Formats: sequence, structure tokens, C-alpha cells
Amino acid sequence: MEPFELTDGQVLLRVPDEGDIDALVTHCADPAIVAFTTVPVPYERSYAERYVRTLVPERWASGRKLVWGVRRADDPDRLLGILNLFDIDKGRGTAEVGYWLAAGGRGQGLMTGAVAAVLDHAFRSADSGGLGLFRVQWTAAPENVGSRRVAERVGFRFEGRLRGALVLRGRRTDALRAAVLSTDSRESQDWNLGVVDQ
Ligand SMILES: CC(C)(COP(=O)(O)OP(=O)(O)OC[C@H]1O[C@@H](n2cnc3c(N)ncnc32)[C@H](O)[C@@H]1OP(=O)(O)O)[C@@H](O)C(=O)NCCC(=O)NCCS
Repeated sequence: MEPFELTDGQVLLRVPDEGDIDALVTHCADPAIVAFTTVPVPYERSYAERYVRTLVPERWASGRKLVWGVRRADDPDRLLGILNLFDIDKGRGTAEVGYWLAAGGRGQGLMTGAVAAVLDHAFRSADSGGLGLFRVQWTAAPENVGSRRVAERVGFRFEGRLRGALVLRGRRTDALRAAVLSTDSRESQDWNLGVVDQ
């Protein structure tokens, strides 16, 4: 698949490229991002170079993983985060979403807008230029409260707790699982989980 952009007016999703290497090197050393992702540690410049030159293009070409750089629409050359739509299976109509955002972009509704824009595109019919998916799921560690809040805001429904399903930085932990269907309303949800044991 050829890379394409998505926007809601405030956030712009555009494929990461050469111009984003410095930002990737900086952001991927942030302990808050390291804790909940699988970025290599230490994150060396050569990894960012391989990421934008080889890995990202391969993923888009496969059609199974779409990788966007998250940017403010009014500052499009400054990469603030990454949003992945992965495990795309058009036959089953399913995929999963995952994301992170650098400190300078947090708390402005950017990721909520970004995920909502990706869901709009994922659920739009193929005839109308979308991916024509039926279900998009989300998985994260119980302590990843920020990621959970975004998922609740954009309409994901909580489906359960998968015991021992994740290994984060060598530590096995449970996973929370949620999903939104193309037939669901996209209104903000409250999973009523309170403080979840880690
Ligand atoms: C979690 C993250 C993706 C949220 O993106 P964001 O653009 O800051 O989120 P938004 O501004 O759209 O906020 C959506 C809601 O989540 C809440 N929220 C965001 N980050 C939060 C956090 N770390 N803890 C608790 N709530 C959080 C916001 O207050 C907001 O709630 P509201 O709608 O009640 O006001 C981003 O902060 C991030 O990447 N943090 C780094 C570490 C991390 O948790 N990564 C998760 C993915 S691996």
C-alpha cells in the first residue's frame, strides 16, 4: 500500500521519513515511552535510520502494518509520536492500534484525534477509499493509564484482562484488551476499572 496522510484539522498523520530521524532518536530515549513499548534500548541513531529507510516502507508495502508520524497540523515537520495500525487482516476485517507521544505533544487531545481519524479510515468502506474493517482492537498493560484513557475517549469497549499476556522490558504482566466495531457508536466510554492492580 502507498503511504497516505490523515488529518482531523488539528492532528496530521504522515509517514515518518528522513526528516524525523533526530526526533525519533530523542523521543525513543524517553523513559515513559521505553516503559510501554518495544523500542530498542539504548536507541541508537542507526536504528532510527533503518526504521524510516527500511522498516516503515516495508510495513506499508506489506499492507499489514501502517505507520504514521503524529504531528500538529500547524507544525507538520515536527514529529511528536507514532501511531501504528497493525495486524491488518482484510479477510477477517480486523486490526489493532498502538501509539506513543513525546512529552511536548501530550495533554492536547492529539492522540485522541489521531486514533479517531484512524478509526474513521479503518471503518470506511473500501468503495469509499477506506480499509473496510469491522473490528479494531487495543491491548495495553494495566498500568498504562494514558493509553487506556485515549482508548476510552474514542469509543473502545473493554473486553477483558489477559493474564500474563505481555512481557514489558523483561517483566511479565497482564494485558487489558478492548475493541471497537464499525457498528459501535464512537462516544466516549468509561470502563469503570478504577485503580487496576498491576
Ligand atoms: C498516553 C498518550 C498516548 C496519550 O496521548 P495524549 O495526546 O496526551 O492524550 P490526549 O491529550 O488525547 O488525552 C486523552 C485523555 O487521556 C488523559 N491522559 C493522557 N495521558 C495520560 C496519562 N499518562 N495518565 C492519565 N491520563 C492521561 C487525558 O487527561 C485525557 O483525559 P480527558 O479526556 O478526561 O481530559 C501519551 O500521553 C503518551 O504517549 N504518553 C507516553 C507514555 C505512554 O503512556 N504511552 C502509551 C502508549 S505505549
